[in-house]
Parts: sequence; C-alpha cells; structure tokens
Amino acid sequence: MSFDFSTAMAGARFSNPILTASGCAGSGKELSQFFRLSELGAIVTKSIMVKPRSGRATPRMAETPSGMLNSIGLQGPGIDQFLENDIPWLKEQGVKIVISIAGESVEDYAVLARKVRGVAGITALEVNISCPNVENRGQVFACNPTTAREAISAVRRNIGGEVPIIAKLTPDVTDITEIAREVVDAGADGLALINTLLGMVIDTNTMLPKLSQKTGGLSGPAIRPVAVRAIYQVHAALPNTPILGMGGVASGRDAFELVLAGASAVSVGTATFGNPTAAMAIKQELEEICIQRGFQNFRDAIGFAHRVEGGDGE
Ligand code: SIN
Repeated sequence: MSFDFSTAMAGARFSNPILTASGCAGSGKELSQFFRLSELGAIVTKSIMVKPRSGRATPRMAETPSGMLNSIGLQGPGIDQFLENDIPWLKEQGVKIVISIAGESVEDYAVLARKVRGVAGITALEVNISCPNVENRGQVFACNPTTAREAISAVRRNIGGEVPIIAKLTPDVTDITEIAREVVDAGADGLALINTLLGMVIDTNTMLPKLSQKTGGLSGPAIRPVAVRAIYQVHAALPNTPILGMGGVASGRDAFELVLAGASAVSVGTATFGNPTAAMAIKQELEEICIQRGFQNFRDAIGFAHRVEGGDGE
C-alpha cells in the first residue's frame, strides 16, 4: 500500500506537507533554479505590505550559534506590484500559493485583504502579525490579545469566506495559547507557528551591536525547541485548529518533530539559505521517517506526541 503524504489546512489541500517559510524564498524565482516549485506543498511568499519598502539599513543579518538574526524590515515591492508581477509568474509554475501579508496598522490589513480577495487561485493567506523588525513593540500585533484580534478581524471581514486565513504568531509572549485563542475566535482558520524571536548580537571587537537597528529576529536550529513547545501547547489547547509549523527545521527528522507536536504542515526557512534544495531533501526524509515509523498516512502522525498513555496532555 502506498503512503499518503497529502495534508490539509482549513480546507486548503497540499500534495505534501513541506512549504517554504515566508521571507526565505522571496517569490520563488531564485529557488526555481534548483527544483520545480510544484514539488513543494506550497510556496509561502515574503510578507508583503501595502506600499513598496526598502527595509532597514544594513547590516541586517548576523550569524549566531546554530542560527541567524535578521533585521530585514519587510523589504518588498508593495502589494500592487507583487500581484501584478509575482503572482502571474507563480501561477505559471503550477505551485500552490500562500500569500503572506504584513501591515503597520489594522487598516493596512484590511486594505491588503481586499486586494488579495480579487485574485483567483490563491490557496491561503498568511497574516503576519508578528514581525519583530518594526518601529515599536506596539506594532507586533501578536504580542497583545486585543491588537492580534483586531488585525485578524480586519482580514476576516475583508477577505471574504473563500480564502483560509493563517495567522502567524510570535513565541515572544507569556502565553501563546491566549493569543492563539483570540485570533481563532477573530476568524483565523489556522496558525503559523513560530515567527522569529527577538534577539541581539554585540560585536566584541567593535563593542557595538552588529545589526544597524540593534535587534533582529532569531531563526535556525537554535529556536527549534521553542517551536516544538509552542506547537505542542497550541495543539493541546486548540486541537481542531491546523498549524503550519516552522522554526529551525533543517532535516526530515526536525520536520517530523514539529509534526509529532501538532503541525499539519512544515515550512522550511533558514536552512534554504545554506542549501537551496533543503526543502526537497527534508520532504524526502520526512516521508521516509513516517514510513519507517509505521504510518500509512501522513495525517496520522500529526500531534502523535500528545497520545501519551497517562501523560498530562498539556
Ligand atoms: C523582516 O522582513 O524583517 C522579517 C519578517 C518577519 O520576521 O516577520
């Protein structure tokens, strides 16, 4: 009997559970030199804002032990250029498309949702309410239940009923399940867990921060245990809400760990910078591990770690 590697999130179906992570594959043109994008479960595009944006000043990347810091600042062409240039090209590739949006205000989210609403062939919308590289912490909507709710409500009201909404959350909060409940209540169909953690590196030679804006988002294997913890907690709290897991996935085994915690699909991010074909290797390894562990269906592995006899299930 052949293994069924397909998965689904809030009505969106994927032939396999490996997606790109927003910001780590642009709009796919560079990656398409290395493999056919249609081999992915879906591409998640770089979070796009209402207006074109050059991002933060350089230096805006720094290596860290088992990870990296980025302080890109949501560089991008703006939603109109993106929809005109990138989406038609992506459609030609035959890949499922998850558009990621980011706003500076609740009204921005409403505007972005209305723009995306008119576009055919979009599989899902990732609503990034957790970028750490913003002017002030008040703009990290996902750090506060009220602002998280307002941003997601604005998208829900303006996107219509057909495109599933995936809210992207930060682990930089006291209780991620509280924020998860708020955004699901406000209309999110799924959750993307986790965005990068706010971090900082000081160069001990210059004795100054390495990044021009001092802080950045920490990603890579260093944050995987945080991702596993957040996914596990949220899956326990909201078992019917699908989770797109991400955070330091560099191998099929890493992806499997996120799946066991409760992820219905997994995004590959930082690993792509070191190896552009990482997503393809991870996809193959994940399928092999699922089969080795005796699963006939990928979906049976989702949240398996919660099925501990006598465990506290938390
Ligand atoms: C950035 O462009 O600064 C990163 C976006 C994010 O982490 O959400």
